[in-house]
Amino acid sequence: MLLKLDSIKKTFCPQTVNETAVLTDLTFYVEEGEFISILGSNGTGKSTLLNLIAGIERPDEGEIEFCGQNVLKQSPRKLAADIGRVFQDPKSGTAENLSIQENLAIASRRGEKITLRRGVSHQAKINFRNALADLGLGLENRLSAPVGVLSGGQRQVLTLLMATLKKPRLLLLDEHTAALDPATSQIVSEMTDRIVKQHGQTTLMVTHNVDAAIKYGSRLIMLNRGRIVADVRGDEKKSLCKDEVLALYHNEIDWE
Ligand SMILES: Nc1ncnc2c1ncn2[C@@H]1O[C@H](COP(=O)(O)OP(=O)(O)OP(=O)(O)O)[C@@H](O)[C@H]1O
Ligand SMILES: [Mg+2]
Repeated sequence: MLLKLDSIKKTFCPQTVNETAVLTDLTFYVEEGEFISILGSNGTGKSTLLNLIAGIERPDEGEIEFCGQNVLKQSPRKLAADIGRVFQDPKSGTAENLSIQENLAIASRRGEKITLRRGVSHQAKINFRNALADLGLGLENRLSAPVGVLSGGQRQVLTLLMATLKKPRLLLLDEHTAALDPATSQIVSEMTDRIVKQHGQTTLMVTHNVDAAIKYGSRLIMLNRGRIVADVRGDEKKSLCKDEVLALYHNEIDWE
C-alpha cells in the first residue's frame, strides 16, 4: 500500500469565528499504480486533502502513511522528490525567466542537495529533447526559449513533464487543466493520461471536469463536506454515466 489515510480530521482556525471543519472523518487507501480522479464542490476540502498528503498541512487527528512511514516524519527534501505536484495556475510550476532546458534541469535535480550549478550537460539536453518530442508539441525545438513566452497550455504540459521527470512515487494534480481553454484542457488531460500510463504513475487528480473524471483514471472518489460519498473503481467506474456523477454532487444517490 503506497498511501494510507486513517480517520483524518482537519479544522482550520479552531475556536474562532472563522472555524471551518474541512475534513471530518476521512479514511482511504491508495495502491501503487492507481489513477484516482477526485471530484467535489468548491470548498469541500480537496486541496486541503492534497496538502495533507504532501505534508504541507498537519491533520488534527488521524495518521497519513506514505511509503510505510508517517508523512510528517519524512524529510521535506525526500517528500519533494517522492511527490510531484501540478497546480491550477500555469505560472506556478515553472520559472518564467529561465529557459525550458533550465527549468527541466532544475526538475531533474529535485531531491538532490541544492548547488549553484546552472549549466545543462550535452546528454541532459538530448534527454530533455527526447522527452519533449514525445509530447508532440514541438517544444523540443525551443529548448533555450524562456518559459515566460509559452502559452498557458504549453507551460502546463512542461510543468507536468517536470513533475514526472524523476518518476515520483506519487503525482498530485490539483485542477491542473482548469485555467485552460476546452481544447487545450483536453490535450493536457490526454497527455496526463499518457504519461501516467507510460510510467504506471500513481496519481490523484482533483478536477471539476466530470467528463474527464469519468474518462480518465482507474478510480473515482467524490468528496462532500469532508467525507467520501462515493468511491468507485473497476467495471463500476467504467460504466459510470455523467448523470449519476452529477447526482452525487447533490447527494441524490446513497452509494453503498
Ligand atoms: N490555510 C487555511 N486557513 C483557513 N481556512 C482554510 C485554509 N485552507 C483552506 N481553508 C478553508 O477550508 C475549506 C476547504 O478548502 P479547500 O481549498 O480544501 O477546498 P477545495 O475543495 O479545494 O475547493 P475548490 O474546489 O474551490 O478548490 C474552505 O472553506 C477554505 O476556505
Ligand atoms: Mg482546491
